[in-house]
Amino acid sequence: MNILIVGKGGREHTLTWALSQSDRIKKMYAAPGNPGMAQYAECVSIDPEDTGALAAFAESHHVDLVVVGPDGALAAGVVDAVEEKGIRAFGPTKAAAEIEWSKAFAKQLMIEDGIPTAAFSTFTDVDAANAYVRQQGVPIVVKADGLAAGKGAIVCMTENEALKALDDIMVGTVFGEAGQCVVIEEFMTGEEASVFALTDGEVTLPMIPTQDHKQIYEGDKGPNTGGMGAYAPAPLIDEEMLDRIHKQIIIPTIRGLKTRGRIYRGVLYCGIMMTPDGPKVVEFNSRFGDPEAQVLFPLLEDDFTELALAISEGNLPNIPLKWQQKAATCVVVASKGYPGTYEKGKPIFGMDRLEAMPDVIPFHADTAVRDGQLVTNGGRIIGVTAIADDLPSSIDRAYEAVGAISFDNLYCRRDIGQKALKH
Ligand code: AMP
Ligand code: GLY
Repeated sequence: MNILIVGKGGREHTLTWALSQSDRIKKMYAAPGNPGMAQYAECVSIDPEDTGALAAFAESHHVDLVVVGPDGALAAGVVDAVEEKGIRAFGPTKAAAEIEWSKAFAKQLMIEDGIPTAAFSTFTDVDAANAYVRQQGVPIVVKADGLAAGKGAIVCMTENEALKALDDIMVGTVFGEAGQCVVIEEFMTGEEASVFALTDGEVTLPMIPTQDHKQIYEGDKGPNTGGMGAYAPAPLIDEEMLDRIHKQIIIPTIRGLKTRGRIYRGVLYCGIMMTPDGPKVVEFNSRFGDPEAQVLFPLLEDDFTELALAISEGNLPNIPLKWQQKAATCVVVASKGYPGTYEKGKPIFGMDRLEAMPDVIPFHADTAVRDGQLVTNGGRIIGVTAIADDLPSSIDRAYEAVGAISFDNLYCRRDIGQKALKH
């Protein structure tokens, strides 16, 4: 098979790595890819949201399967454009991906179909939104309806914060069109986890639970980032709880989408809050998590190429996924200053040492090659994944590996995985 992977981050490097393990692969392309993905795929410079160019490339290069990584590409309709050409795609159509790109749509579906989530109200008028906040009181959560690069949810501990968030989003339009509509939500307490399920719109196969570390500083302090590290399996969610999440959340959501005429194929990402009243949905995403993908795929025993193809054909066998009885930890090394401002173009040293380490995989998030030298090219640079027999050993191994690489202003959290050990 010829495969085209859409995207350029750590998640897409992981997908490329996983797909490349299959003996079904003839040729892989990545649009636009990154230096890590270039080890397995030919990188072509096409914008991940340029649906027409991607579909035309897939057709002219006899691509059999297009695997879409990022939310923006799904919301732009890459899957629809590719399928129109008669080519298979892993990922939901634009209509099915609305579960991520409109929080109002997702919340409405959950309320109508009895899927546990925080109580909420939706507003397009700022005065009405302000009045609702005053009536509900704090803490309360204000969310832009549309995609906002993971920054669209503001947890407000005071009324002033909430009113300012509404003013910023609805009047100041800090998130552009994504903030024309806002969702105001009840504040939930509890620990969060990321639960993924592969689905062809009918069969749903939950993956082992994972946890991300969203904040930039140790102890989950400071501003939110794309994710600073992850591990799997997350002991917070045992088998019984995963089964409950499957029955109460995953199955009804996929069924709910189907009854609304939206067959959902790909991966459903459930952001779950383990509240005192049980698991509730914080949000849905229509893609893999980054860096959660970096700990899932190294533990997956099944051939992901076969799974992705079966999903794209609506033929996913109802057989539980197979996992190595091991644990994985991913530590993201970033540029100091991220998620604010940071410098780029710093030479990265030690990649050869890292690549020689058994049970360690460096997934490139944002690197570039300048004059033959690998350099930093963004905020999150490399996700260093290590696999071991148990979680504590995988954490130790990941940090040992992180110690092998260096660049100017390297920053990483030193406590990835610690929150799992208390369970
Ligand atoms: P979201 O973009 O909806 O995933 O929200 C980003 C983050 O904000 C989540 O990971 C939570 O930490 C926090 N958050 C979102 N909604 C709520 C809520 N209803 N109650 C408490 N925290 C929330
Ligand atoms: N790691 C969180 C996300 O991918 O949205």
